[in-house]
Amino acid sequence: MAVLVTGGTGYIGSHTVVDLLEHNYDVVIVDNYVNSKPEVLNRIFKITGKKPRFYEIDVCNEQGLRTVFEKEKITDVIHFAGLKSVGESTQKPGLYYSNNIGSSLTLLKLMHEFNVKNIVFSSSATVYGVPDHVPLKEDDNIGGCTNPYGETKLDIEYILKYEAEQHKDMNIAILRYFNPIGAHKSGLIGEDPQGIPNNLMPYITQVAVGKRDHLNVFGSDYKTHDGTGVRDYIHVVDLASGHLAALRKLEEKPGLVIYNLGTGTGTSVLDLVNAFEKANNIKVPYVICDRRPGDVDENYADATKAFKEMGWKAKLNIVDACRDSWNWQKNNPKGYDK
Ligand code: NAD
Ligand code: UFG
Repeated sequence: MAVLVTGGTGYIGSHTVVDLLEHNYDVVIVDNYVNSKPEVLNRIFKITGKKPRFYEIDVCNEQGLRTVFEKEKITDVIHFAGLKSVGESTQKPGLYYSNNIGSSLTLLKLMHEFNVKNIVFSSSATVYGVPDHVPLKEDDNIGGCTNPYGETKLDIEYILKYEAEQHKDMNIAILRYFNPIGAHKSGLIGEDPQGIPNNLMPYITQVAVGKRDHLNVFGSDYKTHDGTGVRDYIHVVDLASGHLAALRKLEEKPGLVIYNLGTGTGTSVLDLVNAFEKANNIKVPYVICDRRPGDVDENYADATKAFKEMGWKAKLNIVDACRDSWNWQKNNPKGYDK
């Protein structure tokens, strides 16, 4: 009776594994460390006093993954494994299609072979493309993604919808994450981007820790209250608990369900910088520069469906997230590298 967590040593996966272990789930992780480090497992043990079983396997490797299904009694799957860099996906589209879609197809094939019915999938607000309104609801239009990464998420959503139509006994939760930030309150696990961070919060924390000189604010002429881009920043610990809520929902055998995981509140780049400075009493120097291609003005969730149907809602706010992101960064200036 174990939950298989693919990508369980990654940023969102590790926080979810902690929550699962603290709720006494039996956890099996599969990860190939393409974007994570073995040290994560030690940190998970430090927080929970428990060691999930771990397999260093590429989820695209059917035979390798089959050995996990043979050895373990898997009842549910949470599928985080995937590549997530928007920029890299435009340079290496083939890699993103083969890794993200390939891993999902391999996983589904083995789930059928071993009669595993429940899967929670990490989708993204990126599937809404360029929104013509906010807040975004689950039945709003999807499509029009501007990069291969987003396309892979959209394609996997379609694959899962066809699976659900074909296999009425399958239970599938598609979770569309908005912008995860923050870290576990212990400061032992957090986001550890390789190279120059693409995302706003890790860039802010690297400026704060002195690794980078200043933040580049991409554009100040968006149609928002202060001209900078507005997003829905959700604390990763809240996001993690959304996966436990989804697992419980799947026990009701709902077939296919789709939920936004966001806070419902829009925060601009400058709002986040100000919140970070205030929460941590540290200056974050910034320079306004050109827009980043592909960025939209505003993107935030209507998260009421997840509350109505799963009883889940975000409890932490951006001040909590700013405090916890900084706590992680200052205690681990080199991330998981000693
Ligand atoms: P992450 O890179 O920290 O974690 C992904 C994990 O998957 C890593 O540990 C990586 O090593 C592993 N992995 C990748 N491909 C694999 C493969 N073929 N086989 C085995 N392991 C593999 O990313 P994250 O931020 O934790 O994101 C988790 C999921 O959520 C991803 O699917 C991502 O696309 C999705 N998502 C993330 C965000 C975000 O902003 N972080 C937003 C929306 C959706
Ligand atoms: N930004 C800056 N400077 C930076 C980085 C970001 O000003 O150095 C701005 C962006 O222009 C945007 C906001 O901060 O207005 C947030 O940018 P992020 O890169 O942190 O996040 P995005 O909303 O662009 O994208 C994220 C994930 C995607 C996912 C999407 C879903 O990176 O994978 O959320 O909403 F698809």
